[in-house]
Amino acid sequence: TKRYSITLLPGDGIGPEIIFVTKNVLKLAGSLEGIEFSFQEMPMGGAALDLTGVPLPEETLSAAKKADAILLGAIGGYKWDKNEKHLKPETGLLQLREGLKVFANLRPATVLPQLVDSSTLKKDVAEGVDLMVVRELTGGIYFGKPRGFGINEKGEDIGFNTEVYATHEIDRIARVAFEIARKRRGQLCSVDKANVLEASMLWRKRVAAIASEYPDVELSHMYVDNAAMQLVRYPKQFDTIVTNNIFGDILSDEASMITGSIGMLPSASLGESGPGLFEPIHGSAPDIAGQDKANPLATILSAAMLLKYGLGEENAAKRIENAVLDTLNKGFRTGDIHSAGNKLVGCKEMGEEVLKSVDSPILAA
Ligand code: NAD
Ligand code: IPM
Ligand code: MN
Repeated sequence: TKRYSITLLPGDGIGPEIIFVTKNVLKLAGSLEGIEFSFQEMPMGGAALDLTGVPLPEETLSAAKKADAILLGAIGGYKWDKNEKHLKPETGLLQLREGLKVFANLRPATVLPQLVDSSTLKKDVAEGVDLMVVRELTGGIYFGKPRGFGINEKGEDIGFNTEVYATHEIDRIARVAFEIARKRRGQLCSVDKANVLEASMLWRKRVAAIASEYPDVELSHMYVDNAAMQLVRYPKQFDTIVTNNIFGDILSDEASMITGSIGMLPSASLGESGPGLFEPIHGSAPDIAGQDKANPLATILSAAMLLKYGLGEENAAKRIENAVLDTLNKGFRTGDIHSAGNKLVGCKEMGEEVLKSVDSPILAA
């Protein structure tokens, strides 16, 4: 038996609901492949604020660092929205990403044939979309200094942030993206705002320089405003996209909707070494929290990414991916992806259906 330790960070809102069902799926998929997990649940985000007064307690970060992988639900909620910056759940998440040094955030957006009708885009636009957003995660305007609040010459309050990238930060995320593009369809589109921003000018220059190491990958550059438009005009043109922290945040939410719902999109955050962090790209969905309405598939698919990218357990990962397809084939849908003729289920029941399919995997198409 192989043994792995997983730190679970359920967080806030729908976080505990989606982590509960995902844990069971991970457990079963593992056991069927001779893997035993030990799970350690730690407080994070608003839950940690209420419990300990900080959004990322030291014990949570140190437990995460010692684990083989980390699975996060989501953090944030109305209750803490007006907190000072250092006491926001979101600050805890940024501290976690920074603390784990997970600079590469992989956000795949795949339109499953089962869900073409759930997309808000026309069938012929959405059908067959299969792209990967590689988002830089520990730099840029999220972390750049100077930042803060102040007062300008007119005595007016100001808030300010700095978009800053150093060569090594661009080079390493570019290499991750080229490696991924190489294993996909060999096309990499770097998205920036190099017509206006110095940080983007350096970004474009460095990505172009790194391209010489990957002659087999076709590199293109696109401005972010155009990319936002192209994503809904003709998303099939994209294979792998590499972009900075904030553009990647926005474009991946946009890309999620092509697939039918933000409740479908998983992510993997990886560093040079140490455990990876795996989380859905969506937030804590306070509007549906506690109602058993959340789509757990983004988190379940994040668990599959945990197995694949975090632990190298491809077979167990495949089991989960197949189980998700199988469950969709059977017509089970949470509200966000529901359409006529399907079976509307809640978060728990969706999880139970996936569990059944993990146990008896039918080779799903
Ligand atoms: P959100 O992603 O939480 O929700 C946006 C919309 O999508 C809502 O209508 C929500 O109900 C729906 N939705 C999201 N996930 C869903 C799921 N799994 N199934 C069905 N519907 C789903 O974004 P928001 O409303 O802008 O933010 C809410 C809170 O979450 C904020 O505090 C924000 O800071 C936080 N947030 C956290 C993360 C994270 O933990 N990684 C990511 C994004 C936002
Ligand atoms: C995400 C979220 C976070 C981000 C927030 C909650 C800090 O939107 O994971 O996409 O902006 O990275
Ligand atoms: Mn986001």
